[in-house]
Amino acid sequence: MVKASAPGKCILFGEHAVVYGQPALACSISQRMTIELEVEETFDKWRIDGRTFNPKKHPHIDFLRKQLPPTEEQPIHIRIRGSIPKASGLGSSAALSVALCGALQQLRGADLNPMQASELSHRAEASAQGGRASPMDTATSSFGGFVVLSDTIEGDLEYLGVRTMDVEGTTLQWHLHTFNTEIPEGVALVIGNTGVHGSTSAMVKQVANLLLENPQRSVELETIGAIARRGIQALKEGNMEAVGQAMTENHMVLRSLGVSSPELERLIRAAAPSSLGVKLTGAGGGGCMIALTMNPEETVGAIEMEGGRAFITHFNEPGLAIEDIT
Ligand code: PMV
Repeated sequence: MVKASAPGKCILFGEHAVVYGQPALACSISQRMTIELEVEETFDKWRIDGRTFNPKKHPHIDFLRKQLPPTEEQPIHIRIRGSIPKASGLGSSAALSVALCGALQQLRGADLNPMQASELSHRAEASAQGGRASPMDTATSSFGGFVVLSDTIEGDLEYLGVRTMDVEGTTLQWHLHTFNTEIPEGVALVIGNTGVHGSTSAMVKQVANLLLENPQRSVELETIGAIARRGIQALKEGNMEAVGQAMTENHMVLRSLGVSSPELERLIRAAAPSSLGVKLTGAGGGGCMIALTMNPEETVGAIEMEGGRAFITHFNEPGLAIEDIT
């Protein structure tokens, strides 16, 4: 039996603007997905949580088991556990793919390889989503900590590598970076889930239409890029007041782009008084908001009073990890 886990992610700066080449920063969260693989002794087919595996229902799992086939012929029983809410922009699907890569690597007797897991699960997510997927979720889940995605190499950050993908005849390219930082004691992130499912593709399209009609509004995307760079610098310096300030500014630009929602605004208003900074995270239109706070319990309470589901997460959570081998 092998068991591997990988964290979800949230976006601290730069969503939407990253689609147009600006830098975005994601960080791993404390909530994780765990995959347990056990060689079947009695059953003659692959199973997931006791049911026969259906490749149509789990295309990314099917993709990965073909990329990293177990060395033995016997079928495998996959058990999935996790505390990342689904379809809320927290990267639960990417974390599942990354944890599965790690577990399959172990089953094959190989060392844990986050770079390979990051690449393969990005391709798995893209093939399951019919082509389009940025490598942000899978990279953050694989490496843990902070991941900066940009269309240029950001000289003052540690370079992880370039990722390319051919989509409908064009080659997309992303540069991945990371950095280390000491986060001052007592600072946490609180994630508030509206429970409303925002569609990433619909929100990305909405911003694209806005820009098509008003090309001059690309200035707002550049503003988000500038805020993201300032926020990243503040984070590297451990200046959490400045990080919070940049988050709130980033949110105001996202709101003006039209990707917030009444539910998000309610949770953000509730969390603001006890926080250093607040913003929506991910595509918007629903989904989650985040609050940088020195008073996590108070912030959780305020969000829950407004009907959101809230939980605390910490920085520098590890990426892909082995939990158990027997
Ligand atoms: O829905 P999420 O949390 O995976 O975030 C999407 C982020 C966007 O910038 C809106 C889209 C993208 O592909 O980067």
